[in-house]
Amino acid sequence: MAMGYSKEVMDHFTNPRNVGEIENPDGMGEVGNAKCGDIMRIYLRIVEDVIEDVKFMTFGCASAIATSSIATELIKGKKVEDALSLTNKAVVEALSDLPASKIHCSVLAEQAIKAAVKDYYDKNSIAYDAEIFTLLNEEHSH
Ligand code: FES
Repeated sequence: MAMGYSKEVMDHFTNPRNVGEIENPDGMGEVGNAKCGDIMRIYLRIVEDVIEDVKFMTFGCASAIATSSIATELIKGKKVEDALSLTNKAVVEALSDLPASKIHCSVLAEQAIKAAVKDYYDKNSIAYDAEIFTLLNEEHSH
């Protein structure tokens, strides 16, 4: 199998879930990795603090597509704060592992969700602890 990808990665890459955009989203996050140049966008529809819908657009590698796809599945129907606690580790586990050189792709998925939630909080003047979003400032170095 190409680069030793798990069957979950291949499944989500060849048949990604929740691809697309949401018009007038309640939150939108766009993040990128400066090294590989991949870009990931997450759109959220939030009703009464629950993620009613989520879509993604990813311009990137197979793992970036697979991680964004599974990440949307993991947060759909969940409360906003549960989406915030989704870690890239949980994404990797849900995909039955990623090659070491592809772990940063899962970090992108965690960052994109956090960026979308931050956008939702900012738009609605919801107060938050800035520390929750420190990961968003750590990307540019590698
Ligand atoms: Fe960079 Fe996958 S190679 S996101």
